Amino acid sequence: MDRKKVTLPEIQRKKEMGEPITMLTAYDVSIARAVDQAGIDMILVGDSYGMVVLGYDTTVPVTMDQMITAAQAVARGAKNPLLVGDLPFLTYQVDPLEAVRNAGRFIKEAGMDAVKLEGGREIAPTVRAITNAGIAVMGHVGLTPQSVSKLGGWRTQGTTAEAARKLLDDALALQAAGAFSVVLEKVPDRLAGLVTQRLQVPTIGIGAGPMCDGQVLVTNDLLGLFDRFVPKFAKQYAKLYPLIVDALSEYKLEVDAHAFPTVEHSFAIKDEEWDAFLRTLDETDETHAHIQFDATADAARVY
Ligand code: KIV
Repeated sequence: MDRKKVTLPEIQRKKEMGEPITMLTAYDVSIARAVDQAGIDMILVGDSYGMVVLGYDTTVPVTMDQMITAAQAVARGAKNPLLVGDLPFLTYQVDPLEAVRNAGRFIKEAGMDAVKLEGGREIAPTVRAITNAGIAVMGHVGLTPQSVSKLGGWRTQGTTAEAARKLLDDALALQAAGAFSVVLEKVPDRLAGLVTQRLQVPTIGIGAGPMCDGQVLVTNDLLGLFDRFVPKFAKQYAKLYPLIVDALSEYKLEVDAHAFPTVEHSFAIKDEEWDAFLRTLDETDETHAHIQFDATADAARVY
């Protein structure tokens, strides 16, 4: 079925109609194509890229150039979902002008439709500056991984009355500054439900329970691409890691046993071309004449 490109008004319409919004991360062309084919509404080229692909312990070291390369690959693969580029640490916190420039790179160089940044009231003037430049912004409150050391670890946010109130005010401030939606990460489900009720723009939850307008997961977690820790909120819809190890081990076994590649994976040269080629060689060297496919072993062997 022909699908249409997802737009901001479509995301807002879903909120108003109470239709769930789906979002997943992608960092490369093949996952981007698969996410698109699955009919997901939005793709986040998240700075989680730094952890799940580049192997950093946090998202903090990720650079703008790394994000642009990943975003370009995703844009080549995904045609229908709304594409959101995640501004990495220190590309928007220092100066709103620098933030506008970096947000603009996602749009101009990588074909993103919007950008995401982390933070509440303190970042609202920056959200305003970016939206004033004509760039759509998604906010992100609750557990904001770029501030993980300030937050004292990967803990649930908004768990006291005071923190819950601050989180609501932060989300409202982002909306007032022009954010088209707000990610709520690792906050109590009731609080996420209340914020969702109070906001006119959609909330997208990750570890925020079922009452958000939409859900986002890190695709690598959903696919079970790791043999390491999986966050409580990340449901594994597949366990690909052991399947990958099995496939790689089988490849090694077959190569070791000369069982791969077979004729099926090899390329031929016509006999007359081969003979002509051999005549260009030293014809007294017998070894050349015996290079041919070993049909009995059904494997490309030189003997
Ligand atoms: O970087 C990311 O993947 C994110 C999601 C967890 C929302 O910010």
